[in-house]
Amino acid sequence: MASNSPLAAILLTLIPCLFLVIPQAEAQPTPGPAPAPSSTLNLTAILENGGQYSTLIQILRSTGLDTQIYNQLNNSNQGLTLFAPTDNAFNNLNQGTINSLTQQQQTELVWYHVLPEYYSIANLEIVSNPVRTEGTNKNGVDTLNFTRSSNNQVNVTSGLVTTPLNNPLRQKYPLGVYEVDKVLLPESLFGKSSAPAPAPAAIAKNTSTTPSVSTGGGSSGSNGRNVGLGMVAGIGLFCMGFLLQ
Ligand SMILES: *[C@@H]1O[C@H](CO)[C@@H](O)[C@H](O)[C@H]1NC(C)=O
Ligand SMILES: *[C@@H]1O[C@H](CO)[C@@H](O)[C@H](O)[C@H]1NC(C)=O
Ligand SMILES: *[C@@H]1O[C@H](CO)[C@@H](O)[C@H](O)[C@H]1NC(C)=O
Ligand SMILES: *[C@@H]1O[C@H](CO)[C@@H](O)[C@H](O)[C@H]1NC(C)=O
Ligand SMILES: *[C@@H]1O[C@H](CO)[C@@H](O)[C@H](O)[C@H]1NC(C)=O
Repeated sequence: MASNSPLAAILLTLIPCLFLVIPQAEAQPTPGPAPAPSSTLNLTAILENGGQYSTLIQILRSTGLDTQIYNQLNNSNQGLTLFAPTDNAFNNLNQGTINSLTQQQQTELVWYHVLPEYYSIANLEIVSNPVRTEGTNKNGVDTLNFTRSSNNQVNVTSGLVTTPLNNPLRQKYPLGVYEVDKVLLPESLFGKSSAPAPAPAAIAKNTSTTPSVSTGGGSSGSNGRNVGLGMVAGIGLFCMGFLLQ
């Protein structure tokens, strides 16, 4: 009987240690993005709800513009207007048009679809042309023109592309988001001289170098996890030290 007691003592010491260790291991919070303050509009979410903007969303993410636009919207007191090309609009471009653009040019292309001010469609109908966009090139700001078309629609034109403004995804200060069925190609990127076919399709990209569309999944959770592992290891060492005495 007496010979059992050292073992019993060890077990009695270990058991609380196990109870210490197990809850620590389970208590790690699941890492995830902090929820946005509800007061700030989330453009990506609006586009996702629209259901046909996955290309635009991918470009917004891969260029980091989703965050930039989000911040700009939050900090602006004039609001923003975005023309959102549908997936069809991107599909109708010559193959490789987007992939042949550098990241910088893709950024410029997206900013060309943004006006640094909120407009309702009715306001765009009477706006004075040309209208400055957020898109810039080495010679200055890229502009868009708006015209009222015969069937009571508003057309937007870049000079290279003319298309009606459709279906507002959102039309309320501070953010207007309007569907367009064509990608608005700025002359500064796609050139006047290159005739009706707007895309620089000559730059035949190697199919193996597929687009830089990344989903940008973060590694932000690893720190919290390391802390948790450290705590578990520390408790383990403490228990071992206790046992060795
Ligand atoms: C915006 O919404 C998208 C899609 O719902 C989400 O992935 C993203 O984290 C949100 N951004 C912010 C800053 O809340
Ligand atoms: C939004 O803007 C306010 C005031 O400028 C600032 O305090 C806040 O941190 C901003 N929020 C985000 C998510 O950028
Ligand atoms: C508006 O755009 C449509 C489609 O591109 C075109 O058929 C129409 O002629 C345009 N109207 C004006 C006034 O530009
Ligand atoms: C835009 O409107 C301005 C002013 O009317 C005009 O000078 C310019 O040529 C127009 N540009 C395009 C591409 O329609
Ligand atoms: C395409 O990629 C392959 C492999 O990376 C390379 O051998 C080939 O030269 C490339 N072709 C062009 C046109 O860049």
